[in-house]
Amino acid sequence: MATMDTAEPSRRDFLYIATGAVGAVGVAAVAWPFIDQMNPDASALALASTEVDVSNVAPGQIITVKWRGKPVFIRNRTDEEMKKLEAMDWKVLRDPQTDEARVKKGHENLLVVVGVCTHLGCVPLGHQGEYEGWFCPCHGSVYDASGRIHAGPAPLNLPVPPYEFISDKVVKIG
Ligand code: FES
Repeated sequence: MATMDTAEPSRRDFLYIATGAVGAVGVAAVAWPFIDQMNPDASALALASTEVDVSNVAPGQIITVKWRGKPVFIRNRTDEEMKKLEAMDWKVLRDPQTDEARVKKGHENLLVVVGVCTHLGCVPLGHQGEYEGWFCPCHGSVYDASGRIHAGPAPLNLPVPPYEFISDKVVKIG
């Protein structure tokens, strides 16, 4: 009996040890990718700012670039679009802001905004909606060509990210 008692637990112990070892290896294997993701590598740091050559963005064109995982719209507004914006009464807007406050002096036609609807984060569609600015297909928010909110549930204008012209042609976002 004594021999049996000793033999049984030792076999069970082995199973526990084996299971425990597999568990530990499993945890390590799962934990590694998460830990690895937490270390910003060179490519992630590079994305903290994005440089874009805007010289090829034609009047009326909108390009979308990626900055910190978000879409950023760069829009070269036509003179006609600029005239329409100037004629608007910005003081009555939900998030009142002049167009001048949203662009860089000397580059007024060029608008740079984060392309994420301020309601629940959908990506609005360009040249659409009543003001031909952007229209959010998710719940119908309407933005003008300055990215300012006019109608729908979005509470705020499309945000202008930090950016600067580092030459006549190149914009650095971030
Ligand atoms: S997410 Fe754009 S209107 Fe709701």
